[in-house]
Amino acid sequence: MATTLAKAADGTEAATHAARIEHVSKSFAGPAGQQLVLDDITLDVAPGEFVTLLGASGCGKSTLLNLVAGLDRPTSGAISTDGRPALMFQEHALFPWLTAGKNIELALKLRGVAKDERRGRAEELLGLVRLKGAHGKRVHELSGGMRQRVALARAIAQESKLLLMDEPFAALDAITRDVLHDELTRIWRETQLSVLFVTHNVREAVRLAQRVVLLSSRPGRIAREWTVDIPHPRRIEDTAVAELSVEITEELRGEIRRHGQH
Ligand SMILES: Nc1ncnc2c1ncn2[C@@H]1O[C@H](COP(=O)(O)OP(=O)(O)OP(=O)(O)O)[C@@H](O)[C@H]1O
Ligand SMILES: [Mg+2]
Repeated sequence: MATTLAKAADGTEAATHAARIEHVSKSFAGPAGQQLVLDDITLDVAPGEFVTLLGASGCGKSTLLNLVAGLDRPTSGAISTDGRPALMFQEHALFPWLTAGKNIELALKLRGVAKDERRGRAEELLGLVRLKGAHGKRVHELSGGMRQRVALARAIAQESKLLLMDEPFAALDAITRDVLHDELTRIWRETQLSVLFVTHNVREAVRLAQRVVLLSSRPGRIAREWTVDIPHPRRIEDTAVAELSVEITEELRGEIRRHGQH
């Protein structure tokens, strides 16, 4: 995909954005004709930035993420990303006939990593998500949280500049989710990764992001955004996280009231 490049002082060229969404609209054919789902969305994700996209159910969050992933095309407008993004969804989408390690090795293989390097790199990635020793485990032997860790390791194995996450922790219990928030924050801060993370959980959005973008419903438009400068490490129960979450929840409720039922 196309990327805008800027010359740095040392003469190297660096991307000016990890994702650029320009005046994007998306309609689907429905029983009552064309249904406008996304209306004139303009949003940039800077290199290394962590952005959460928040909105009521059905407001078009997954649709927008799918467009950025290149899985579908906008009806109008343009999207560009710095290379091919990695994806992680609510469902882990691991191959059940492969072990945890082999799932990661497959991603390395697709990236062209030599066969004799894959095993060691997969072990490293399992270590990064704190699953050392799980290489030989089958997917059905892993808990939901462990599966999402493997899925995260597999996404990171792709060495994409941009990680697109669609409610990756929504099916997990609160404690496991909290641990994975810590892990994701640590990995994001240790790497140059940019993240566009979709959720309808306001606290999750505030805990993770540098910027929270709220979408309105029917059609999805950018309603408001907040810069989150609460220092890390953040906890879900921190007063600052709670206070900003209350403010954003009020706004989200207003959006839901304005546009009908949830
Ligand atoms: N391929 C499709 N064809 C027709 N309509 C679609 C398609 N994909 C999504 N939609 C419609 O677009 C709207 C937005 O759906 P989307 O899945 O993007 O919402 P969402 O914000 O991700 O919701 P949730 O929080 O429940 O996951 C919905 O009304 C949905 O029915
Ligand atoms: Mg969705």
